[in-house]
Amino acid sequence: MARVVVTGRIPDAGLDMLRKNHDVFAWAEDSPMPREKLLDVVNGATAIVSLLTEKIDEEVLVAAGTQLRIVANVAVGFNNIDVAACAARNIVATNTPGVLTEATADVAMALILMTTRQLGKGERIVRSGEPWQWGMFYMLGTSVQGHQLGIIGLGQIGVALARRAKAFGMTIAYSNRRPVDPTIGAELDATRMDLRTLLASSDVVSLHCPYSPATHHLMSSEQFEAMKPTAYLINTARGPIVDEAALVEALQNDTIAGAGLDVFEREPLVHPGLMRLDNVVLLPHLGSATIETRTAMATLAAANVIAVLNGETPPTPINPVA
Ligand code: GLV
Repeated sequence: MARVVVTGRIPDAGLDMLRKNHDVFAWAEDSPMPREKLLDVVNGATAIVSLLTEKIDEEVLVAAGTQLRIVANVAVGFNNIDVAACAARNIVATNTPGVLTEATADVAMALILMTTRQLGKGERIVRSGEPWQWGMFYMLGTSVQGHQLGIIGLGQIGVALARRAKAFGMTIAYSNRRPVDPTIGAELDATRMDLRTLLASSDVVSLHCPYSPATHHLMSSEQFEAMKPTAYLINTARGPIVDEAALVEALQNDTIAGAGLDVFEREPLVHPGLMRLDNVVLLPHLGSATIETRTAMATLAAANVIAVLNGETPPTPINPVA
């Protein structure tokens, strides 16, 4: 029986699929598996099902051994996996695109509303017990209707967010290396812009690009300076796309109006400067956290493992190995 190592807790539906024909070791604690333990348990594994909290690099691949055939990430983002190192060893790497699109877009839309309408701050005021009173000028936010959403990285999640934002009356701009499929572009009535133009003209900027060395600190002081002082930044992608120290400065100096963040540069640590600011909404990386979505992610990762161990093409490969 092939040994399958699951590096963190995943819904039973995924584990059940794997346990049918394989010898499964699954880390059963909520906290991430310590690195030493990971290096130990992967030894002899034919498949690793990884969570985004585990770095699957050369050291892990070596610790696993030459029988390793697949690393199946239970996430759409795969910056925790050294895909090139996998490819060099003929190990298939897979991720879970598609199944978490709607849940993540929901959270991005929620962050747009939370930031532009000060919903986090409002909630904090009521909970604090501090006196408050309805007033014509009390808790004034900004309407999203008629305002431009600028999407950086119009992939599946970006498109799903654009559909929501359009239903809320926003206009859509995007910055991508390639133009989107014309049918989608027409449906969204989306305008493609270079990054600088998008930053300068958008009322909300939302990040949906993958994290890689090319997108490290894509948003830093210069980009915040390019944004309108009334604009908001939303990040549901990966923390290090944003230079968090520069963001704190931009928020403190009113270079931009606010930010909504579901991800952080040094997760789960949050920059102390962000904690002190009222014009930022902070969520604990919960974009795909619905039971339905997490179940679909686990079963898709399991399907990827089963396909590869059966000698078939996996449903969602990152780097198909011939
Ligand atoms: C979550 O952050 C994911 O990449 O799936």
